[in-house]
Amino acid sequence: MKAAVLGATGFTGRLVAAELFRRDVDAVLLGRDEKALSAMDGARDVRVVSLVDPSSLVGALRGCDVVISCVAPFTLLGGPIVEAAIAASCNYVDVTGEQRWVRRVYDEFGPRAAAAGVTLMSAATDDGVPGDLVAGLVAKRLVDVDTLRVHHGMFDAGISRGTMLSFGHMAASPPLAWHDGEWRETDSGAREAVDFPHDGEQPSWALPGPELIMLQRHAAARTIEATMNVDLVAAVSSLDDDVIAAAPAGPSDEERSASRFTILAEARASDGTTARGHVSGSDPYGSTALIAVEAATRLGARGAPVGAVPPSLAFEPVEFLDALTPFGIKWQLGN
Ligand SMILES: NC(=O)c1ccc[n+]([C@@H]2O[C@H](COP(=O)([O-])OP(=O)(O)OC[C@H]3O[C@@H](n4cnc5c(N)ncnc54)[C@H](OP(=O)(O)O)[C@@H]3O)[C@@H](O)[C@H]2O)c1
Repeated sequence: MKAAVLGATGFTGRLVAAELFRRDVDAVLLGRDEKALSAMDGARDVRVVSLVDPSSLVGALRGCDVVISCVAPFTLLGGPIVEAAIAASCNYVDVTGEQRWVRRVYDEFGPRAAAAGVTLMSAATDDGVPGDLVAGLVAKRLVDVDTLRVHHGMFDAGISRGTMLSFGHMAASPPLAWHDGEWRETDSGAREAVDFPHDGEQPSWALPGPELIMLQRHAAARTIEATMNVDLVAAVSSLDDDVIAAAPAGPSDEERSASRFTILAEARASDGTTARGHVSGSDPYGSTALIAVEAATRLGARGAPVGAVPPSLAFEPVEFLDALTPFGIKWQLGN
């Protein structure tokens, strides 16, 4: 199997490339800077592409089974890459956290990918995939789900420069939540405190959760919404261009291993019964690389449904989550 990484020289792209090399996958490193690509540990197959030259992208992706896109912000830069993957018959995975981008992948590119026999999986990250899988399992435990909520807990987590830029795009539009059969823009303000496993009660704010776009495709609930224990709008207001330019590419190795995440899913049925489940791990960036590569290698081996596909429909959820546990990502269902 041949897997390409686009944006391989970025903070997340480097972790993704390292994970591919660790698994001995035939990896193709794609980016705009040949010198930087060739200098990467393990680089063998390096290809220079330009987002404004579609033929360079299609040519580089031909013969690859899957591409993992780490070029961000996705809302701004993502379109030509999905177009090229479809044209090159190459399955596509990305590491976005941008909800509006995920919606575009599903609504605009999904039908075209299905017609071309290509699978697209957006938001293959530490929160996107676990959020879709665990919330899907939680929803299945109840009959007639009224409310499905996904709560993101970030603990001692530093963010990369690329994430700072993407946060700006995420905060530029109100969060989307699913209510009564349609997507509605909600206010991005404070919500009720959330009782997290291990960490107890945390404040919460509405979040444009990428996994909501996927959950709506397979989890029947009257309301599907997300929160985070960090106020995204306040965080973005502290990030001007100078702050971003002066920031390091991403958290140090020590900061990465000290940071933790929990994705908690809560469902409430019309009769008042409830169900919960969660996924927890450390090092959100390393976990994202692991999850993106795990998803990509499964899609690259083919056999997944075509079009834009949520993890819950592409994979067997319990088996996928269990495959992450040897790497310290733990999950549990139960109240
Ligand atoms: N859980 C999550 O939601 C999660 C977790 C991890 C990462 N992410 C997301 O992943 C994305 C990447 O983050 P990061 O920290 O890796 O960012 P980064 O270090 O800034 O990397 C961005 C990559 O995009 C490339 N790029 C940017 N503009 C380009 C252009 N015009 N043409 C070609 N290539 C271009 C850069 O190339 P150069 O190297 O040549 O500059 C670089 O390789 C962000 O959106 C982040 O939020 C999300």
